[in-house]
Amino acid sequence: MWTGLAGAALACTAYDHQSVLDPVGPQATSTRQLFYFMMAVAVIVYVMVVGALLLIIRNRRTAVDDPQSPAREASAERTIKIAVAIVVPVLFVFLLYDFAVARVVGRMPEGSMLTIDVTGHQWWWEVTYEDPIPHNIFHTANEIHIPVGRPVRIKLASHDVIHSFWVPNLSGKKDLIPGHADDIMIRADQPGIYRGQCAEFCGLEHAKMAMLVVAESPDAFTRWVELQRQPAQVPVDSVAVAGRRVFESGSCAMCHTIASTQAAATVGPNLTHVAGRMTLAAGTLQNSRGNLAGWILDPQTIKPGAKMPANALAPAELQALLAYLETLK
Ligand code: CUA
Repeated sequence: MWTGLAGAALACTAYDHQSVLDPVGPQATSTRQLFYFMMAVAVIVYVMVVGALLLIIRNRRTAVDDPQSPAREASAERTIKIAVAIVVPVLFVFLLYDFAVARVVGRMPEGSMLTIDVTGHQWWWEVTYEDPIPHNIFHTANEIHIPVGRPVRIKLASHDVIHSFWVPNLSGKKDLIPGHADDIMIRADQPGIYRGQCAEFCGLEHAKMAMLVVAESPDAFTRWVELQRQPAQVPVDSVAVAGRRVFESGSCAMCHTIASTQAAATVGPNLTHVAGRMTLAAGTLQNSRGNLAGWILDPQTIKPGAKMPANALAPAELQALLAYLETLK
């Protein structure tokens, strides 16, 4: 039931921006050029093959049909030679072009670099913003904010299985392989919300391992960073205060962190500013009170196999918890 509702809720949001053919950065643009070039060559080769086929059919009708005839054997040999003479240079050009694109995709763009650590988990993305001052480091999940026009280095890691980081509007895919440090360069030249997803089958909920990259103006990005660095808001409303108690004393605190509370576990996403995010459960649900309630009570129906267990909260406890989580902007 929840899955259907969630699908409907998600379908009407504005962040369905996910296309390799609509690049907004240098890496994705060069990949799209390679795609168009290969497509054009493939179309030419296809037309040539079909043309040759038609020619053969016509000649067969007119020729004397003796398969053993020396003229036919010579003709077959000539055809093979022509085919090899065409295919080898074409593949060689593809190879060179591919090298050139790989150089663009892997090159560190000009400008002061922002570094973000992204760790793939079954089935969500842990996001950490690096900073030389330890106090300024902060954690979030499934939503990556970046400033427009600034190069971003995303350091990739995984501790369970192989995932793959893919935001088609920004760059190609890069695998997150356990025990193997790797990174990917991106730069968004237009503001927007770009949807990405895990592109390597990583288990039951691989399809529900999405993320959003929010490219915004440098000012908006700075404001967002300032907010993320703040500890969680201290609730004043009595219902929200009760909600915080539910969070800290119940099973929530065994997996999640809310900065400045007693909840400091790192099994699940950091929830310090969860109310400010657009989605829940790695892009599975739109972040609304109803969806959050459904997710807390019964995550296994929405995302079977996810690490989060069902939580049989009393109605009053649930309402208090929701009121508290909603304060975490
Ligand atoms: Cu993670 Cu597929």
